[in-house]
Amino acid sequence: VTDVELTRGSAQDIPRLEPLWVAVHHQHRAAMPELGPYVSDEVTWREHRPIYEELFRRPDTFVFLASEGDRLIGYALGHVVPVEETWIADTWATGRRIGELESISVLPEHRGQGIGSRLMDEVHAEFDRLGIEDVVIGLLPGNERALRLYERHGYVPNWLYVSRFRSEGRG
Ligand SMILES: CC(C)(COP(=O)(O)OP(=O)(O)OC[C@H]1O[C@@H](n2cnc3c(N)ncnc32)[C@H](O)[C@@H]1OP(=O)(O)O)[C@@H](O)C(=O)NCCC(=O)NCCS
Repeated sequence: VTDVELTRGSAQDIPRLEPLWVAVHHQHRAAMPELGPYVSDEVTWREHRPIYEELFRRPDTFVFLASEGDRLIGYALGHVVPVEETWIADTWATGRRIGELESISVLPEHRGQGIGSRLMDEVHAEFDRLGIEDVVIGLLPGNERALRLYERHGYVPNWLYVSRFRSEGRG
């Protein structure tokens, strides 16, 4: 655990995030198989990568990387958005800008060692530096492990989508 190093990354690191994002996708599939069919590993990255690229064209997007030697084993990516561009402004009284923890992932064999928690601490320190006091995270309701991590760091359940997809349950 002690030789796991956290550093700040940049948009240049986006290609290296592929296996870590695919691990998030695997977690989604495993946590709620009843919502299938899911897209393939190839499609999930093809669709998600441009989201990261777009976020890094905006100010105040950041990524922290967890590495063991040369090997990338985890990351957390956050960004900031004006509250009026969100679903929050019409319902809750918050600051003018909202932080979102867009993604957090630790490779399966490195979970349960506190790395996710250390990444969360870095993310909160960065939001503090940016003057952000209001933060949201999206997750699947069946992703209990992620929910426990967030609750330990002070988050409570907030907005919830329900879905009725044409293909749901045919996975
Ligand atoms: C969610 C996720 C990022 C958590 O990362 P992690 O590194 O395992 O997180 P932590 O190690 O800090 O905490 C996980 C557990 O280990 C325990 N733990 C923390 N430090 C520990 C240590 N030093 N030794 C033993 N256990 C420890 C925690 O108490 C926690 O227990 P819990 O699951 O019963 O609540 C990781 O499970 C993951 O990548 N999941 C798949 C992707 C995903 O779902 N991402 C979120 C999408 S919304």
